[in-house]
Amino acid sequence: MSSIPNHIAIIMDGNGRWAQARGYPRFFGHVRGSSRVRPIVEEARTLGVKALTLYAFSTENWKRPEEELTVLWKLLRKYIHREVKDLKKNGVRLHVIGEIERLPEGARKELEAAVEELKDGKELQLTFALSYGARAEILNAVKVVAKKYAQCDLKMTEITEENFEKHLATAYLGEFSDVDLLIRTSGEKRLSNYLLWQCSYAEFEFTDTLWPDYSVEQFRQSLENFKQRKRRFGGI
Ligand code: FPP
Repeated sequence: MSSIPNHIAIIMDGNGRWAQARGYPRFFGHVRGSSRVRPIVEEARTLGVKALTLYAFSTENWKRPEEELTVLWKLLRKYIHREVKDLKKNGVRLHVIGEIERLPEGARKELEAAVEELKDGKELQLTFALSYGARAEILNAVKVVAKKYAQCDLKMTEITEENFEKHLATAYLGEFSDVDLLIRTSGEKRLSNYLLWQCSYAEFEFTDTLWPDYSVEQFRQSLENFKQRKRRFGGI
């Protein structure tokens, strides 16, 4: 088994606190935080990680002030404008999971165009979780399965973990849909409704570093720590 995790999921937390600690408005933390995405994506690809899933916006984040949301959508669009060309050149495929229909039209359309533009990428599957919540994702899958069962398209014995997973938002990741390593910055030690099913056997790496300060060196260290773990998947 490769010592490089196939699927890494990151909760990019601490932007607001980073800004407030420096006397800046919260949005400035997002500006700085968004600039950390490129080097981490690049490093993941170089190291041979197959899937990188970034929690960019949770369903709970809609409660934030309008001005902060506006900045987040602007940053997302900026990222796409700046990066699509290089992502394509480097074989990165982009996916979005979550209630993308809730996003402002401009951001949604640009995201969809970028997803289309990058659809041939084979090196790294990069996913932005946007307006995403894992319970809603699992419930959706339950509804699809229940409907198939009610219509006699699926037998009770066919409702297996393997078949169920095909209805989760991350189904496109196939054999890599299970998260191997979950990283959360900013000292919080919670999953916050992120990839609950996919993280069943994930190793967790919590760091006190706030996301805007999270460096490539630290990312490498997180992967180094992962190498030292003995993963037993319930065995001995
Ligand atoms: C958590 O910090 C971070 C977010 C809610 C947004 C994450 C977004 C980015 C890093 C930029 C998006 C850009 C791209 C390219 C995906 P917080 O605001 O909850 O920080 P706090 O816990 O300190 O308040």
